[in-house]
Amino acid sequence: MIVRKTQAEIEKMRRAGLLVHEILTRVGEMAVEAVSTWDLEVAAAKMMDDAGAKPAFKGYYVPAAGERYKYVLCTSVNSEIVHGMPSPKRVLKSGDLVSIDTGVSLDGWYGDSALTVGVGEINEEAKRLIRITQESLELAIEQVREGKRLFDICGTVEKYVVENGFSIVREYVGHGIGTQLHEEPQIPNYVDRRNENPRLREGMVFAIEPMVNSGRPETKVLKDRWTAVTKDGSYSAHFEHCVAVTANGPYVLTRP
Ligand code: MF3
Ligand code: CO
Repeated sequence: MIVRKTQAEIEKMRRAGLLVHEILTRVGEMAVEAVSTWDLEVAAAKMMDDAGAKPAFKGYYVPAAGERYKYVLCTSVNSEIVHGMPSPKRVLKSGDLVSIDTGVSLDGWYGDSALTVGVGEINEEAKRLIRITQESLELAIEQVREGKRLFDICGTVEKYVVENGFSIVREYVGHGIGTQLHEEPQIPNYVDRRNENPRLREGMVFAIEPMVNSGRPETKVLKDRWTAVTKDGSYSAHFEHCVAVTANGPYVLTRP
């Protein structure tokens, strides 16, 4: 069942979403040469604490990893797709791509968002990957309307990414969000005909999160049991926003 939220509930999610936006903006700006992914983690944790918010990821149990996640951020560099773990040893250098994913709960309501930034000078392929991934999310957001169906979101990302010669990660997906970080439905970044294709209704809120590889789509998980990487070592980019279906169209909760 897809839980629908009232306008008042969506405004609570909005507060969580705006905090996530502020954190991501700040740590995105911090992601320059010689800064470690641990530095980003520390800054994000402090911002959550100062705002009276709870980290959504720290303590979150992921069955595939068999344990709880230990950090407030996921920081995934270059061929890392998602669930890269912040570390003082991971010092960013010019040419790196870093995907930063974070979430909070505020008053019991969740916000979740991600972005990918280039460190120093990045190559043309990496620039184009970032652009196409971000554009695929923007096109998908336009589909978040009454009268559309879930596959319109999934298919929009898939078509745009494939047309532009990149590949869609299939093993990790977007999700409904509300009083839980992950609610129904799952939102793959491609049309999966094994899934249902529900109509979108006012009050539904979706975390849409294209993960796109510059090379082949296949993924593997490192021995740390968390870090998902591209099998071929190609770059991966990730953008995510929480979007509500409203009478006035798509309402992006995770940006001003
Ligand atoms: N990347 C996931 C999402 O955006 C959440 C990470 S789960 C965690 O939905 F345990 F790694 F934090
Ligand atoms: Co998410």
